Parts: sequence; C-alpha cells; structure tokens
Amino acid sequence: MAKTHRIAVLPGDGIGPEVTREAVATLKLASEIHGFGLELRDFPFGAEHYLRTKEAFPPTALEELRGFDAILLGAIGDPRIPVGMLERAIISGIRFGLDLYVNLRPIKLHAEAMCPLKGKRPEDVDLIVVRENTEDVYAGIGGFLKKGTPDEVAVQEMIFTRKGVERVVRYAFDLCRKRARRRKLTLVDKANAVGAMDLWTRVFEEVGAAYPDIERDHAYIDAACMWMVKNPESFDTVVVSNMFGDILTDLGAAIQGGMGVAASGNIHPGRVSMFEPIHGSAPKHAGRNVASPIGAILASQMLLDHVGESEAAALVGSAVEDLFRNGTLQSTGTDSGVSTTAQGDLVRTAMKRGAASPAGRAAS
Ligand code: IPM
Ligand code: MG
Repeated sequence: MAKTHRIAVLPGDGIGPEVTREAVATLKLASEIHGFGLELRDFPFGAEHYLRTKEAFPPTALEELRGFDAILLGAIGDPRIPVGMLERAIISGIRFGLDLYVNLRPIKLHAEAMCPLKGKRPEDVDLIVVRENTEDVYAGIGGFLKKGTPDEVAVQEMIFTRKGVERVVRYAFDLCRKRARRRKLTLVDKANAVGAMDLWTRVFEEVGAAYPDIERDHAYIDAACMWMVKNPESFDTVVVSNMFGDILTDLGAAIQGGMGVAASGNIHPGRVSMFEPIHGSAPKHAGRNVASPIGAILASQMLLDHVGESEAAALVGSAVEDLFRNGTLQSTGTDSGVSTTAQGDLVRTAMKRGAASPAGRAAS
C-alpha cells in the first residue's frame, strides 16, 4: 500500500501564506502523480496568531510537530512585533526544539541569465552549503548588564560543542561523497580571529581522515565571500558554522538568481525535519501576488526527498529547471511580471508534462 506522509504546514507571516499555498498545491499534485498519500495540517503560528492570543509558540506545539513526518514553513516576521521575537520563538524554537542540526542550502544556478555575475554559467554555480543549525550565537547564551544605562554591557556567546561540530562535519563529508560531483569539502570559518574555532579545524581533520576520497579545503569566511563571487565554481560542498552560514547563504542566494529561488532544509537525519524558503516574510510585498513561490516549491522538493519520495522530488526539480531553461520564467524577482499563482501554475503544468513523457524530461 502507498505510504501516507503527515506534513505540518506553517504558512506564517507576510508573503509566507501566498508562497506556501503554491508549495502545498505542488505537493498535492506530486502525490496524485506518484500515488502516495498526504495528510496536511495547518498551524497558525505567526504574527496574527500572536496578536490575537499572545501565544508565540507553545511547548505543546513542539510536541505535536514531533508526530509529523515533515514540516513546511513559509516565513516568519512582522513589523508590528519586536524585532526577532517571533523568529526566535518559532524558527529557532523548531530548529533547536527538534534538534535540526543541519541547515542544508543548495546554491544552484538554473539559467545563465539569472546570474548577476559576469560570464558565469549554470555549471559554475552548483554548490551546497551545510550550515550548522543548533549552536553558535543562536544558542541564546548571553544577556545584558545595566541595560538602558550609559554603562550597558551586551553579551552573546559563540558556543561550539565537540558533539555539535562533529555531527555536522560528518554529515557534510557524507553528503559530499553522495553528491559525487567534485568530492571537495570546504570548511569555512574564522579560526584566525576566533580562537574557539580551532575546534572546527581539529574536528574537520579528524573526521576527514575517514574520507580519503574527499579533498579537504579551507577558507576564512571573509575570503569565502570573495571567492563565491569571483570563482563560485571552486566550491562543491561547504560546511560552516551557524551565523557565518546564515550570511554566506544570502550571498549564495544572490548568485543563483535571488532570494526568490533559494530553498533550505532544517534536517535531523531520520527524524521530522523542517523545510522553508530562505527568504523572509517581505511584509511590503504581502498580499500582492508578486512574490515568487519558487523558493517554497523547491523547499517542498527537499521535503519530498526527505520523506523518501525521490522520484516526486525529481519531477518537481526538473519542472522548475525546465521553466528557467526554456525562458518561461526569467526571474524570481517581484518585478518578474509573472504572479505568485501563475508561477505555481507554470510549475505544475511542467510537472504534468514531465510526468506524461519522462523520457522527454530526461533528454531536455
Ligand atoms: C535564515 C534567517 C533566520 C536565521 C532568521 C529569520 C532568524 O535569516 O533562516 O537564514 O538567521 O537563521
Ligand atoms: Mg538568513
């Protein structure tokens, strides 16, 4: 009997609900084509819910989420709420609460015309970033002394644990081997200035010794930003700490065509994991049907892969790829001229086409 996947959906704030609607419609079509079941349940967390109930993200929600196979999240953040409050409660709440220690962020250019870099082609921009997702300054160790006075002190600790570093580094080596593209893993850090990052240097060497087939490469975060613009083709798989990974992957989104196309998975292998576009809630574009759903749709592709529906995931991926390659969709900016809903429709039409002629799809 076909499997049924239980998916929790958190559309969230701003453009979140609009892009999530398209991602969900895409998941539904994939389930019809590939014959698996979907049990979807919406969760209301976000600004409206908070303003109405004063509840940001209750511990019971985390317990409920544990009962699902995967989570799809739109975006969180609203100018009516103090900066970062909902993001920390919901996004970090889920990442930390479910111990989703890998933040997987593919950076793939689908068509040359989408790249802001001169002369870079799709084969030059095809890397994947493994961002650590449960430690670093995000761990929440810090606080204020004499807050609001001229003598105020603000502290936020950069925390790395041996276990935390080791598991994400091992994941990155395994992924690099599975990708079998260049078999090169780049550790990105700032060990020359942040002494504690020596832990990353040592763990990378120790774990890497078990992967003799994978080239070990290293770049400091400042240089990595420079290389990613200058020579993106020099990267294959990248492993990086939480905050540097946050920054590096916005740069990565820009070189693959913008925030509209970038997707991510917050993953604990074998457990319920969360998938989301990299973009934020973009309040000024909310409700205008202009935000691209491609990032959310590609997040749903990663979700399908995670729950074991790799053929369905490939169908979604090649449908998106087709639209960019044949020029039907030339940008994912809010000025693309193709609405949120129309982009979703285009992807689903391409999926139906792909499903009808799988051979044609492989050849295209
Ligand atoms: C991201 C976002 C989040 C982060 C914010 C919204 C807390 O920028 O997922 O990249 O910093 O991780
Ligand atoms: Mg970010």
